[in-house]
Amino acid sequence: SPVSPHSADSCCIVGDLAFKKTYPALFGLFRNGFLPKNFQIVGYARSHLDLDEFKRRISSRIKFHNEKERELLPAFLDKCTYVSGQYDQPESYQKLRTAVEHVEGIVAGKRHRIFYMALPPSVFAVASKGLKENVYIADGTNRLIVEKPFGKDTQSSKELSILLAKFWHEDEIYRIDHYLGKEMVKNLMVLRFANVFFGAVWNRFYIHNVQITFKEPIGTEGRGGYFDEFGIIRDIMQNHLLQILTIVAMEKPVTLDAEDVRNEKVKVLRAIQPLTLDDVMLGQYTKSADGKEPGYLDDPTVPKGSVTPTFAAAVFYVNNERWDGVPFILKCGKALNEQKTEVRIQFQDVAGNIYKDIARNELVIRVQPQEAVYMKFMNKQPGLSNAATISELDMTYHKRYSDVKIPDAYESLILDALKGDKSNFVRDDELDAAWKIFTPLLHQIESSKVKPEPYTFGTRGPASLSAFVEKHGYTRHSNYVWNPAKI
Ligand code: BG6
Repeated sequence: SPVSPHSADSCCIVGDLAFKKTYPALFGLFRNGFLPKNFQIVGYARSHLDLDEFKRRISSRIKFHNEKERELLPAFLDKCTYVSGQYDQPESYQKLRTAVEHVEGIVAGKRHRIFYMALPPSVFAVASKGLKENVYIADGTNRLIVEKPFGKDTQSSKELSILLAKFWHEDEIYRIDHYLGKEMVKNLMVLRFANVFFGAVWNRFYIHNVQITFKEPIGTEGRGGYFDEFGIIRDIMQNHLLQILTIVAMEKPVTLDAEDVRNEKVKVLRAIQPLTLDDVMLGQYTKSADGKEPGYLDDPTVPKGSVTPTFAAAVFYVNNERWDGVPFILKCGKALNEQKTEVRIQFQDVAGNIYKDIARNELVIRVQPQEAVYMKFMNKQPGLSNAATISELDMTYHKRYSDVKIPDAYESLILDALKGDKSNFVRDDELDAAWKIFTPLLHQIESSKVKPEPYTFGTRGPASLSAFVEKHGYTRHSNYVWNPAKI
C-alpha cells in the first residue's frame, strides 16, 4: 500500500477536487502524517487558474488550529499543481496525463493514481471515459472516487452504473456517502458488535422504534437550482439516513472485510418494502417569523411555485425476524431550529410495571454536533423518595476524549481509499437496492405534484410532525432535555 511511510511507491491524487471539503481533508491527512511520502495532488477543472490563484483558493478553505499547522501549509502547497481542461476533449486529458507523469517523476516502486470526481452528473460519463482512456496507468493501481448524485431513481442510477462500468471495474470505484466517514456512524458497528449488553437487546423484543434524524438550520442558500431537481429525500434520506439505518439494522458480518459488511447491508435494504405516500410526510419552509430568513420559494434559483420538499419524514419496516413490526422513522429537513444528526433507539415499555409514570429507555447516538452516546434510563429519585425519575448515562466525547480531534468525514474516507478499504463506500447493488425503496414514491410525488406542508424557517418542522412520529410509535415523555456533560 502506498500509505506506508517507507513506501517507494508514488501516489497521485488527481481530479476536480472540491475546494470546500477535499483540500482541507487532504491537508488534515498531511498534517497528521497520513499521506504517503511520495504523494502529489493534481487539480483538474475547466477554470483557467494560474498556480498562484489555485493555491490561494486552496489556502482560503483551510482552517488552522494553531501556528504550527499554518507552518505546514507551504510544504503541502508544494505538492499541489493544477491543469485546466475540458471534460469532453481527449487533448485535455493528455495534457493532464503529462502533468501527472511529470509530478510522479521516476518512481522506484509502484504508481497509484486516485481519481476524484466531484462532478455534475452531466459530465460524469464523459469524464470517467476521458480519465480511463488517457490517464489510467496500466501497470499500477487506479481508483475512481465518485460523489453523489448517483442518478435520480432506479433507472437513471442503473444507466449511470452501466456507463461507469464500461470503463471502470467495480473494484476500482469508490462511491462516497460522506456520512459513512463520520466518527459516530463508524462507531455504530463497534457499539453493536463489541458489547454484549447492546447486542442482547438489539431486536424487536426489546426495541420499540428507531428514529434517525437530520436537522439543518440553513436553507438552500443559492444551491436551490441543484436542490430543486433533487429534493430532501434524494439529498439526505435516500443516502445518508438510509446508510445509517442499514448499519443499525444489519446482522453481524462474518468479518470486517468490505464485502462481508456490504453483503449484510444489502440484505437489510432488500428486506424493506418500497415506500408509499401513506408512509411519508413532506414539508417546505417559508420565511422565518422575523422575516429575516427567506422562504424556499424566495430563493431566486428555485423555480416559481415549486413543490419540492425541503423536509421529509418516513417510516420503514425491515421485514425479517429481528425487526418485524419495528418502525424505523427517518426525518430530515433544512431551515429548522438547530443542527443535529442522531439515532434514537426507544426500547419497549417495562412489562408488568409497578412504578408510576416511567419513561421508556432510550439509547441515543449523537452523530453531530457534540458527538455522544447516552442512555436515558430510570433511576431512583435521590433522597427520601422512592419515585423513579429519568436520568442518563452520558458518554459525551469532548469530556471522555478531551485530547482527541475527531477527523472530518472526508479525511477518514480519503484515507480508506488510499488504503484500498472499501467497507465505507457504497457498492453498486447497495445503491440499486436503496433506489428501489424510494423510486415509486418519488415518481408519485412528482407526477401528482404532492403539495408539501409549509413550515416556518427556524422551527422544528411542519406542525403535523409530532403526530406523525407518535402515530408510528414514538412516545415522548415529559420535558426531559439532555444536558451534555460539562468539561
Ligand atoms: C450533503 C447534502 O450531502 O450533506 C447537503 O447535499 C447537506 O444538502 C450536507 O447540507 C450535510 O452534510 P454535513 O456533513 O454538514 O452534515
